[in-house]
Amino acid sequence: MKTIHVSDDVTALNDQAEIPGLGFLAVNAFVLHAAEPVVVDTGLGLPDRGFLEHLGSVVDPMDVRWIWLTHPDRDHTGALFELLEAAPRARLITTFGGAGIMSTERPLPMNRLYFLNPGQSLDVGDRVLTAFRPPLFDSPATVGFHDSLSGACFTSDCFGAPLSSAEEAAADDVRAIASVELSSRQLLWASVDSPWVHTVDRGKFERTLAPLAALRPSAVLSSHLPPAIGRTEEFLRTASTAPTVAAFVGPDQQALEQLLAQFEPRSA
Ligand SMILES: [Fe+2]
Ligand SMILES: [Fe+2]
Repeated sequence: MKTIHVSDDVTALNDQAEIPGLGFLAVNAFVLHAAEPVVVDTGLGLPDRGFLEHLGSVVDPMDVRWIWLTHPDRDHTGALFELLEAAPRARLITTFGGAGIMSTERPLPMNRLYFLNPGQSLDVGDRVLTAFRPPLFDSPATVGFHDSLSGACFTSDCFGAPLSSAEEAAADDVRAIASVELSSRQLLWASVDSPWVHTVDRGKFERTLAPLAALRPSAVLSSHLPPAIGRTEEFLRTASTAPTVAAFVGPDQQALEQLLAQFEPRSA
C-alpha cells in the first residue's frame, strides 16, 4: 500500500489488484481530514494488506468519527470490522441496503450505523458532505459524496479504469496516463463494472451526469483511479458515451482451461 497526499484535506490509501487480461486496478480508500475525520472505504479483503497500520500512519483510529462505506463490495470492506473495533468513536455511514448486505457477513452494531441516502447531507464539523449516486455503479447501495469545503467528489467505482502497469495504478495523479488511453480504459471499466449501461436510453443516462457536472468538483476521487484534479468535464464526456461501447464478455471456460494449461508442469 502507498499513501498519496492529494491535498491538505485528503489522503489516499492506495492499493491495487491485478485483473488478468485487463490490467492493474487501483483500489483506493481515503482519509478526509475534516474536523470530524472520515475514512472512506476500508480496502481489499485480502489478508496481509496492513490496512489498519497504514491508516494509522495517516490518522489515529481513535480520532476517526466516520467511516463512509461507498458500497459493500469486497474491495471496499476489507478492514471494516477491524476498523470498527479500532475506532470506537466512529459511526458507519451506509444505506439500509448496504447495512443489510454487510450483515450477511457479520452483524453490524446497529447503534453505530448512520443511514444516509442520495440527496441527504451530513455535517462533519467544518464542512458538509452531501451524498449522491454516481452515474456508474455496480451496487444498489452505492453512495458517493461531495465535500463542501474542498470541493472534492468521492465517486466510488465510477470513473475507475484498469491501467496498463502497476506503476500507473499507483500514480499520484491521473495525469500520469495519456488522455486517450485513459478514456478507453474508463469505458472498458464501465462495461465490466456497470454492464447495465448498455441497456439504458442514452439521453436519460446523460441526464444522470448533469448533477455531478453542476457540482463542478475540484477533484474526482474514484476508488479505482489515481486522484484526478480538474478533469471532471473530460470524465463526464467519456462517461456519456458508455452506453454505446461494446459490452464486455469475460473469458469463458475454454479460455480458462487454456490459461491453466500454461501453468501445468510439462512432462519430461
Ligand atoms: Fe463495486
Ligand atoms: Fe470497487
